[in-house]
Amino acid sequence: MFDRPASGERAVLVQSGARVDERSLAELKELARSAGAVPVATVIGKRDQPDPRSYIGKGKLEELTQCIAEQEAELVLFNNPLSPSQERNLEKALQVRVLDRTGLILDIFAQRAQSYEGKLQVELAQLRHLSTRLVRGWTHLERQKGGIGLRGPGETQLETDKRLIGKRISQIQKRLEKVDKQREQGRRSRKRSAVPVVGLVGYTNAGKSTLINALTGASVYAADQLFATLDPALKRLPLGPDAVVILADTVGFVRDLPHELVAAFKSTLQETVQADLLLHVIDAGDEQLAETLAEVERVIEEIGAGDVPRIRLYNKIDRLENPAPMVRVGEDGQVAEIWLSALTGEGLELLLETLRQRFSGHRQIRELRLMAHEGAVRARLYRSARVLRDEVDPEGGWRMSVEAQSDHLTFLDNRPEAGATDADASGPEASHAAEAAASHD
Ligand code: GTP
Repeated sequence: MFDRPASGERAVLVQSGARVDERSLAELKELARSAGAVPVATVIGKRDQPDPRSYIGKGKLEELTQCIAEQEAELVLFNNPLSPSQERNLEKALQVRVLDRTGLILDIFAQRAQSYEGKLQVELAQLRHLSTRLVRGWTHLERQKGGIGLRGPGETQLETDKRLIGKRISQIQKRLEKVDKQREQGRRSRKRSAVPVVGLVGYTNAGKSTLINALTGASVYAADQLFATLDPALKRLPLGPDAVVILADTVGFVRDLPHELVAAFKSTLQETVQADLLLHVIDAGDEQLAETLAEVERVIEEIGAGDVPRIRLYNKIDRLENPAPMVRVGEDGQVAEIWLSALTGEGLELLLETLRQRFSGHRQIRELRLMAHEGAVRARLYRSARVLRDEVDPEGGWRMSVEAQSDHLTFLDNRPEAGATDADASGPEASHAAEAAASHD
């Protein structure tokens, strides 16, 4: 139904605008490689205002045509967003497939989606994208030839297609709701098994998969491609005789993520909301470090994972002038940053030791009751312990059940309220939770 010119391998990249954003162009190149294309040339346009018909002007279009012929390219990738009709006009003029950034990222998502949910999310995004450009793919060339006579059946077919797409979209949405419920149940059962989850987040290509590989020796797919992992991959990492954590990989962030892909992307990050610790993997050589850091932090807040403790891992130190592995401790006495190289293994032991200290040793489950004014204590517990139960107390305050290394809980005994309130903290459910949490796997 949606036959389009076949995807080509050799790609010409196009960037048009008053200012050339080198970094964004470099990322487009990476995206192209991720999709399996070979970028062979780049055409830069300096036009202030895009041409409404074909985005680039007539002269640039000629230059592009010549470049395609010289390079024997079969694909043109625009860094700028194209309207459906601009894409159509360009394909007509150039006689090769034309994609903009959104189209390209969708293609990569489609190739990489592994899980049922990932595939549904990608199909949903594709259908939404497609419904706005349905007119092309099967009409623009034929209509040229056939003219008025073909228009009727064409339009009818279009209506049918639009209805079918609408139906498929609502079908997928229903399935996704179901997946969401199932995932919720999955999370609960994982919480009961009390195996701490460590989520890895960060910009695409920061080195998350490489790090998981290095840590577990497991073969999570790592390649110099963007989005090497679309779906959260879970791996067990034994830390010692009495401790194990689950490492959860996530899909990488990308600059200028097209608006219609944001929901699909965020859904893949949902796992991290329930994580006990987030490892934020950063390319230490990133030239816009502050900006990329802030973007990841913002999204973490947005999806409700802002309370999850975080360690920043500055990766790829082997590429720095001074490649010394090190640890920086934050104000709360916990490790806040580790500088390492997933590739050479430098600094990995620092990370493992940090995880060991956090997740092994004598773990304790405490039932406690917090008074209404002890919000800060509650916040600290969320940072340094696993919260197994947290209920609002009818008399004000909270009844909680938390699990952590004993020495992370000693501060609770120094509260003036400690003895008086904690003794009567456990309701019938609390002992249940404690029991369940104690039955580690
Ligand atoms: P996405 O799945 O796209 O989000 O990427 P990712 O964050 O999982 O990155 P991945 O592990 O696939 O690594 C991306 C590239 O960086 C690969 O070519 C790795 O070999 C390289 N890389 C990862 N860690 C290091 C490191 O410590 N030093 C160097 N020099 N390269 C590294």
